[in-house]
This record gives sequence, C-alpha cells and structure tokens, in this order.
Amino acid sequence: MSKGKVDALLGIVFGDEGKGKVVDCFTPKYDIVARFAGGPNAGHTIIFEGKKFVLRSIPSGIFDEGKLNIIGNGCVIAPDLFMAEAKELEAAGYDLKSRLHISKRAHLILPTHRVLDRAYEAAKGKNKVGTTGKGIGPTYSEKAARTSLRVGDILENFPEKYAALKSRHEQILKDLHYTDYDIREEERLWMEGIEYMKSFPLTDTEIELHKALKAGKSVLAEGAQGTMLDIDHGTYPFVSSSSTCSGGVCTGLGVAPNAIGEIFGIFKAYSTRVGSGPFPVELFDETGDKIREIGNEYGAVTGRNRRCGWVDLVALKYAIALNGVTQLIMMKSDVLDTFDTIKVCVAYKKDGVITEDMPYDTEGYEAVYEELPGWKSDLTGLTSASQFPKAFQDYIDYLEKALETPITIVSVGPDRAQTIERA
Ligand code: IMP
Repeated sequence: MSKGKVDALLGIVFGDEGKGKVVDCFTPKYDIVARFAGGPNAGHTIIFEGKKFVLRSIPSGIFDEGKLNIIGNGCVIAPDLFMAEAKELEAAGYDLKSRLHISKRAHLILPTHRVLDRAYEAAKGKNKVGTTGKGIGPTYSEKAARTSLRVGDILENFPEKYAALKSRHEQILKDLHYTDYDIREEERLWMEGIEYMKSFPLTDTEIELHKALKAGKSVLAEGAQGTMLDIDHGTYPFVSSSSTCSGGVCTGLGVAPNAIGEIFGIFKAYSTRVGSGPFPVELFDETGDKIREIGNEYGAVTGRNRRCGWVDLVALKYAIALNGVTQLIMMKSDVLDTFDTIKVCVAYKKDGVITEDMPYDTEGYEAVYEELPGWKSDLTGLTSASQFPKAFQDYIDYLEKALETPITIVSVGPDRAQTIERA
C-alpha cells in the first residue's frame, strides 16, 4: 500500500480472475476503494463469514465500514441494477449512503441501451461478441459520440433529456427492424433507480481524489473485466468497451500517471474466457471440463459456461508489460490440486511459425506447451507458503522466472482466509 498514491488491482487476462476477494482482503489497508471502468457487466463474487455476495457496480470495499468507495467517471451505471445491488447490501446491514460516492461524470446505461446491445448482437450473426447484454457497448459508443447522459444530468431537466435520448434509440431500433421489445416494467424500475441514486452523494469524485491524495490518503483502484478485454489492447472486436488496463485508472478516475503506485496483476493458475473470440489455450476435452467443474467456472453475470484452458504466458507477458505490473497475484491454485501434470502455454503457433509475442489477431493460433508435474495434494487448508508442496512451489518459481515478476500472493480457496502472502 502506498500513501498518497493510487494502487491498481487489475485482472490481467480475460476477467473473472477473482479480483473481488483480493480487493476485499486489501481494503483494510486503504482509505478509499474506487472503480474506474466498466459497469454491471462485472460480477465480483465475494465469500466471507459464510455469506456470498456478487458485486456488479459497487466497489468491493463496501464491506469495510470505515472506507470511502467511489464509482469513478470511467464507469457506466444502470440505475435499476445499481438500486437492486445496493438494496441487497443495505438489507444485509451495510450502510452505503455515507460511504459510496458516485461520479457525476459516469455515464448512464438506459434500458434502450440494453435493447440496442441485443439488437447489435443479433445483427452480427455468427460474429457475435457474446456480450453480457447489459448495454455496455452502446453506452460507451454514445459517450464517445458525445450524445450520452451522465449521472450529473439526473439533477436537472432529466425527463426531457431522457425522452430525447430514448426516442433516438427507438429510431435506431426501428431502422434495425428490431422492434419486438417491451421495456415498460424495466423503465419503471429504472426511473425508481434514478430517484434512489439521488439519495447518494453524486460528486466530482476526481476532485475528491485529488484532495485525498494530497492529504496522503491511500487509494485502491479496483479493475473490472481484464486486460485481454481492453478496448485498445484486447482481442478486438471480441472485447468490452472500456479501458481495463492501468492507463484506464488515470482516465477513469481523473488521476495523473505519477499518482499511480503499485500495480497488482491478478491471474488464475489456469485460464478462462467467457463470450466469443479467439482463445488459443482453450481445451475442448475432459481436462477443460474438469477445470470448469472444479473451478466452478460459470459466468457470475450470465451463468454461461466459461471456456477453460492452461495458463497462458504469451497473454500474461503482454499484460504485464501493458499494465506495468509490479506484483502478481495467483488465484484458484487449488483447482489444479488433482491433476497429474500441469501444462503451461509458452508460445503460440500458426502455419509452422512460433511466436512468444501477442499477435495482432490470435484467431487460428494454437498453444505450444511445456509440462510440469502436478502437486497432487490438497492446498485448501494451507496457511503459509512454507507449507507448499514442492511441485507447487516449483510451479510458482517457474512462472515467476518466465514472467520476470514476483508472485506475492497465492490464493488456495474461495474464502478470504485462504489467501497466502509470500514474503
Ligand atoms: P460486454 O462488456 O457486455 O460488452 O461484453 C463484451 C465481452 O466482454 C464479452 O465477451 C463478455 O463476456 C466479456 N466480459 C464483460 N465483462 C466481463 C467480466 O466481468 N468478466 C469476464 N468477461 C467479461
């Protein structure tokens, strides 16, 4: 933790690395936790004290009573989904209104953005992105087109602004011949969500952050999605629509590059991807099924099967360089407890050409593997790195050497107690 700095905690592959749990373990060390990109397409599952919570738009620091949480300007927010998520937390006894500030510059996801998301996907035929259907792409597109509505808009003449944007959307949908939808109930809840949001501090969060940093406070920027889903650097067009890398922390919170401290990169001991797009390490056999089953690899937002494979050093090296990762955190190591051998993708191959650098388009590439012996023992009860079986320690050493970055935290189970720091 760095005083007067923003540390970033980022998923560095395809998302779903288990950031929620780590942020939750980290929050006691920080004064502020902030989300800088994405919206309800994220689903951070946190389990502690026997309870399971799935956070979508709300930062994971919300469980820690003394912390300020921020939804930054780089985020998009759906008022109805935000209300449902927040009310569930309030019902569980968490006081949100004093501890959750929302940027006036964050953009609003309208019900018609979600219809547009479906309509654009339908129009793509077999080239579908496989979006979460939450209206993310259409909202960020309109942000860039300068036609979108921001949270600050709800404070003045909102009904007129809403009606104008909705009617534009309806026209686009008509042009796409996508008219078979009914959002009346959704819209009612959405408007209720708008009123509910007004009971939260809607602020200039960037200025709050500037003042906090100047006063020496520490900030944790909580990533969403993952590096390979970044709009610029991911597997375009099969990506999300925001900047998920460390550069996005600056634009999505309004903080300068020299305000960034540590950059924690989270990955799993294996790989997953949800949605469409090339995935060279994907396993179509029973090994992939076994990883999915043991790792419970089903989408937190959509419930879809996640595609599974071995760890991918090509993607990890690329992500470490793009983000400037200073420390790595390896999640879900225990999922591999029963495998005889563990494979590691060290390069990609296409038409006889082997590369260790991330290609412009990974379509048609296959993985080149090295094999390591499995540790074949239960990691879930371990409490310190000194108890690691030799083969597991060897796996960590192998990855650290290849990635030239220290793995400082290893997770061996879903509970926050199953998180081991390595000195
Ligand atoms: P969108 O963000 O809903 O537009 O979806 C674009 C792509 O990003 C799809 O392949 C989604 O499955 C993927 N995606 C979006 N959010 C997440 C996430 O939080 N974890 C993993 N994949 C995600």
